Amino acid sequence: MATDSRVRKRVARIAAGVATSHVPAIGAALDNGKSNDAYWAPLFKGYEFSKRWIDANRPDVVLLVFNDHATAFSLDFIPTFAIGCAERFQPADEGWGPRPVPVVEGHPELAAHVAQSVIQADFDLTIVNKMDVDHGLTVPLSLMFGQPAAWPCRVIPIAVNVVQYPPPSGNRCYQLGKALRAAVESFDENLNVQVWGTGGMSHQLQGPRAGLINKEFDRQFLERMVSDPEALARLPHVDYMREAGSEGIELVMWLAMRGALDTRVRETYRFYHVPASNTAVGHQILENLAR
Ligand code: DHB
Ligand code: FE
Repeated sequence: MATDSRVRKRVARIAAGVATSHVPAIGAALDNGKSNDAYWAPLFKGYEFSKRWIDANRPDVVLLVFNDHATAFSLDFIPTFAIGCAERFQPADEGWGPRPVPVVEGHPELAAHVAQSVIQADFDLTIVNKMDVDHGLTVPLSLMFGQPAAWPCRVIPIAVNVVQYPPPSGNRCYQLGKALRAAVESFDENLNVQVWGTGGMSHQLQGPRAGLINKEFDRQFLERMVSDPEALARLPHVDYMREAGSEGIELVMWLAMRGALDTRVRETYRFYHVPASNTAVGHQILENLAR
C-alpha cells in the first residue's frame, strides 16, 4: 500500500558507473570489420569482461556524460553543461557519413525530471531538444554493447564543454555527478540507472606535443578514481593540460560519473591500453558497495 510507511518507495537508483575513452578510430575499426586486426584485437579484448558484466548488470537508462566535438554545437553556441531531453538522437555525420549504429533512444520523462532537479539545485543545464550525437557518445556504446540491432537501453546525453576554453573544473563535474544522483534517486520509478563518464585518457591531437601520452599520470588517475576522488576532483585544469595533453581535459567527465557514486566503491574492472589512434585508452567499472 502506498500509504504504508513500511513499504519502501520504489525509486530509480544508481548502482554502477562506467568510464571509457571514446576514440573515433575505434568506431571506424568496428564498423569496417577490423576489430580482429593485430592493431585492434588487444583493445577489443580489454572490453570482453565489460560486455559480460553489462549483460548481467543491464541498465534501464544510462546518463552518458560526453563531449560534443563541434558536431551538434558549433563555435556559435557552446553550453558548458547540456542535457538531451529528446525522444531520440541520431548518430552524427562526422565527415564520413553517420556511423552505421542504431539510433540512440532517449528517456524524455527522466531527462525532464533530471533537468528540473539539477537546475533547481542551482546547477545550470542547457536543455537540448534536438541533437545529433558524435563518437563521444556512440563509441562508448559500441565498446560496451558491441554491434546490436538496437541499443539495449535508453540513453540521456549529458554534454560537457571540454573543447573551447574555459572548460568546467573537475570539481564542478564531480558536484554535477552528485546532483545527477540526487535527481535520479528522486524519480518515482523503479529504474536501474548507470552514469558513464567518457573521453580521455592522456592525448593531444595538435601542436608540437601532438601524440603525447603520459602513462604515469593515467595510472595515478585510475588509482585516485577509486581511492581519493575528492582530492582528484581538485586537480586544476592546467595540470590536465600540462600532464595529460590538451585533450586530456576530457577526463573531467570521468569525475561526473565518480560524483554520482558513493565515496567508497568497488573497482569491478580496470583496463589500460596504449595507444589507440593518438590516445591512451582507459576504462573502469565502479560499483557502489551497498545496493
Ligand atoms: C582522437 C581522440 C579523441 O578523443 C577524439 O575526440 C578525436 C580523435 C584520436 O586519438 O585520434
Ligand atoms: Fe575526444
